[in-house]
Amino acid sequence: MVKQAIIPLAGLGTRMLPLSKALPKELWPIGSRSILEKILDECFDAGITQVILVISKKKEIIKKYFSKNKSLENTIKRKSEISQTLANLNKMSKKIKFVYQDKPKGLGDAVLCAEKLIKSKYFLLILPDDIIDGYNCSKELILLHKKKKSSVLALRQIKKKEIQRYGIVGFENTKHLKINKMIEKPTIKSAPSKFAIIGRYLLSRSIFNLLKNQKRGKLGEIQITDAMNSMLKRENFYGCKFKGKYLDCGTIKGYIKSFIEINK
Ligand code: UTP
Repeated sequence: MVKQAIIPLAGLGTRMLPLSKALPKELWPIGSRSILEKILDECFDAGITQVILVISKKKEIIKKYFSKNKSLENTIKRKSEISQTLANLNKMSKKIKFVYQDKPKGLGDAVLCAEKLIKSKYFLLILPDDIIDGYNCSKELILLHKKKKSSVLALRQIKKKEIQRYGIVGFENTKHLKINKMIEKPTIKSAPSKFAIIGRYLLSRSIFNLLKNQKRGKLGEIQITDAMNSMLKRENFYGCKFKGKYLDCGTIKGYIKSFIEINK
């Protein structure tokens, strides 16, 4: 059973500067709540019972956002609608644990920081920059995992010019999306397909041992794609062409487009 999820939040958010300097992009609004709460809704709706948020000392404000504020709650207690939103946040907080990443050494390193808290063989990994709207992608991944008994990744066919921004997969079997290769940010020429890994992964915990020995890759960071590629020698990976609409909240332009789309 997949009951735990890791959400890494310790990155620098350089593409959103200077706006992300004081307020991490994960706490920006996407309607009346934050992007992170929308992602947490997806997790809990998919049956996840515990979420591990990987933060850094510079992003403690995320912890503060989820901590109980008694004096605020007492002040507004008569305004029932508002106190309900705070009560919902408190409910969510009970299912959240925080771990710290010392330095932003890459997504792979951030995932490794949560190792001690992961109890079962498989877990979800969710990147909050990627919103998948209108369909619960985490639920889709869990269903496919139950069928295949293996790790699964959310995939999206992208344009040629976008290839160098993503982890790209190649297939042993295109019909069943059995993956046989993964390359982080390849050149257009070396890309094994136009299918990119989008921010939803359902992974076996054997990834942790590989991450411990993983050398820095593209951008000088410890890349999870490199560790997953090594894992392919021993374990199966399947792709999932998810049904929902993909919204990229990792850039200012993408964030504005996502906000408009979600608030239509
Ligand atoms: P990105 O590679 O998109 O980096 O990380 P970023 O910091 O969010 O944004 P840019 O590229 O500088 O604008 C993907 C996810 O992994 C987390 C990020 O917080 C984001 O959720 N991450 C990345 C970490 O937690 N630690 C890292 O060292 C790197």
